[in-house]
Amino acid sequence: MRAMINKKYSDSPNLEMRSDFPQPSLEPGKVLVSVRSVSLNAADLIMMSGKPYPIRFMSGLFKPKNQVLGADIAGVVHSVAPDVNHLKPGDAVFGDLSSDGFGGMAEFVSVPANRLQTLPGGLSFEEAASLPMAGVTALKALRDKANVQPGQRVLIVGASGGVGTMALQIAAAMGAEVWAVCSTAKVEQVRNLGAVGTIDYKKEDFTESAYAFDAIIDLAAKEPWKKVKRALKPEGVYVPVAFSLSATLSTSFGGDKKRIKPLLSNPDVADLKVLSDYVENLQLKPVIHQTFPFEKANEAIQLLKDGRAFGKVVLSL
Ligand SMILES: NC(=O)c1ccc[n+]([C@@H]2O[C@H](COP(=O)([O-])OP(=O)(O)OC[C@H]3O[C@@H](n4cnc5c(N)ncnc54)[C@H](OP(=O)(O)O)[C@@H]3O)[C@@H](O)[C@H]2O)c1
Repeated sequence: MRAMINKKYSDSPNLEMRSDFPQPSLEPGKVLVSVRSVSLNAADLIMMSGKPYPIRFMSGLFKPKNQVLGADIAGVVHSVAPDVNHLKPGDAVFGDLSSDGFGGMAEFVSVPANRLQTLPGGLSFEEAASLPMAGVTALKALRDKANVQPGQRVLIVGASGGVGTMALQIAAAMGAEVWAVCSTAKVEQVRNLGAVGTIDYKKEDFTESAYAFDAIIDLAAKEPWKKVKRALKPEGVYVPVAFSLSATLSTSFGGDKKRIKPLLSNPDVADLKVLSDYVENLQLKPVIHQTFPFEKANEAIQLLKDGRAFGKVVLSL
């Protein structure tokens, strides 16, 4: 089968197309999916480069254990193991394979059946592939960590990215007044997506905002906690989704555990259903910056790496 191969760790995208890559076998509990679309995530960049280095204890010390990147997939069930009852060949499905060795950038991938959800009505394969990791992360940050309530004022820092464009829409669907931080070129687009207020990080510092927020969801984590807390209400919650050393130190050694709630998201098929409901209620629509043909995976990865995208970057097979 065709697959894009990451033979060795590299900071710049250097995947190789192979047409004779072995097709994965169908083990008990698994489903063989004919992949139609894959969306890219920061997790793919981490697996590609093997950085930060401690990740190599998991991903392979000297070379990548899993040579095929791609966690977020949408496709069609090709065949199912005899013990799989709730899916059948021909079903359109989507899911996040980041806990199952990735493998989405290939014609076929073998997936635990319990990782997959059927496609919500009206979504293309490209849109469905955009949802799992970014959507579940956004949902867990807003619902489980920040416990966002109707009428609350929520700030999404990095609202123009993959996770941010989901978080902005989900927070609005939860009834929050949503504010967004992004770069100059993307201010208009986040407004069109539902932000009532915007802060251009190239010109302003959100930690000096005249407004105080009930929750701040931070997808960039560039500012230290001692500055971030100036923008929070006294009972407000800060959710660093990107890694923040300052927030980590403050939760480990400081007294701010109640106000800092770091998120470590994981694939969650029940949450894929929650996201599907938002989609079907027309409250959430994945934002796709560009779809590339599978063969142009390196170009697509470079676009994501350069931070030029508004929303998701997707590959189509
Ligand atoms: N904790 C978890 O489980 C988990 C899960 C998924 C992702 N993540 C992490 O979450 C982060 C975001 O992921 P993503 O897929 O949304 O990435 P992305 O698509 O690359 O988006 C990054 C966002 O950060 C913004 N940004 C960049 N520099 C900034 C600055 N100085 N101030 C404010 N905003 C800035 C960008 O704005 P412009 O584009 O306008 O410049 C963009 O909106 C990544 O670090 C990723 O590793 C964590």
